[in-house]
Amino acid sequence: MRKLFIAGNWKMNLLRSSSQELLAKLKGSLAAIDQVDIAVCPPAVYLSDIAQVLAGSNIGLGAQNVYSQPEGAFTGEVSCAMLLDVGCRYVILGHSERRAIFGETDALVNEKLKAVLAAGLTPIVCVGETLQEREAARTLEVVGSQCRGSLAGLSLDHMEQTVLAYEPVWAIGTGKTATPAQAEEVHAEIRNLLATMFSPAVAQKVIIQYGGSVKPDGVADILSQPNIDGGLVGGASLKADQFISIIEQAAKIKK
Ligand code: PGA
Repeated sequence: MRKLFIAGNWKMNLLRSSSQELLAKLKGSLAAIDQVDIAVCPPAVYLSDIAQVLAGSNIGLGAQNVYSQPEGAFTGEVSCAMLLDVGCRYVILGHSERRAIFGETDALVNEKLKAVLAAGLTPIVCVGETLQEREAARTLEVVGSQCRGSLAGLSLDHMEQTVLAYEPVWAIGTGKTATPAQAEEVHAEIRNLLATMFSPAVAQKVIIQYGGSVKPDGVADILSQPNIDGGLVGGASLKADQFISIIEQAAKIKK
C-alpha cells in the first residue's frame, strides 16, 4: 500500500509574516492526520525559520531546488548538506518552471537527483508535457523520455525512495486540471515504465503525485485513481482552507 503524499509548492510566494500565519493554521488543523504524508516547500531563505515552526509536527519541510555539487564556487546555489542542516527532508527537482525558465535539462535533473539521494533527502521529481505536446499526441513519449533521462542509472533502492510528480504544464497555474482519466492514463504509463526500467516490485512502491491546478473541488476523484498517490499543490497550498481541505479529503480516501 502506498501512503498518499500531499506537498505544497509555495514557489516564490509569501513573506515571513504571511507564511507564519499559514503555518499556524495548518499545524492547528492537520495535527491529527496520520493517514497522509504532508509537506510544505517554501522559498529557500525561509527554510531555516520554518523548520523551527514545524519541529515536532506532522508537516515535513521541503526545498524547491538544490544544486548537485557538495560545496564550492557556485554563486546563488545551495547544497544538499545545507538543506539537511536546516531540517529539510524533501526537495523538488526538475519542476517545469525550472526546466522552462532556467533551462534545466533531464541530465541536470539526473545529476541533482543522484546527489539528493546520496545525501538521504527525498526527491520529488517533476515531469509533464506542454499543451502543444499533448495536442500532438506526444504526451506519453515526452513524459517517458523525461523519466528515462531524469531517472537514468538509479539503483533499485534509490528509485524506491524517489517521489515522482506528473504535472502537465498546461494545467499548472491555469485552473485547468487534467481529468482523473487523463491523469490516471499517464500515471499508469509511468508505473509501467518504472517496471521495465527498474522492477515491477519497485514500480509498485513508487509514489507518483499529480500536480496542476489541484484544488479542493475535484481532488477526491483525482486522488482515488489507482495510480495517483497524492498531489503537488501550487496555488491552493498558499490558502490555508484550501490546502487543509485537500489533505482532509485525501485522508478519507480508501484504496
Ligand atoms: P498549481 O501548481 O497547483 O498552482 O497549478 C502546481 C505546481 O506547479 O507544482
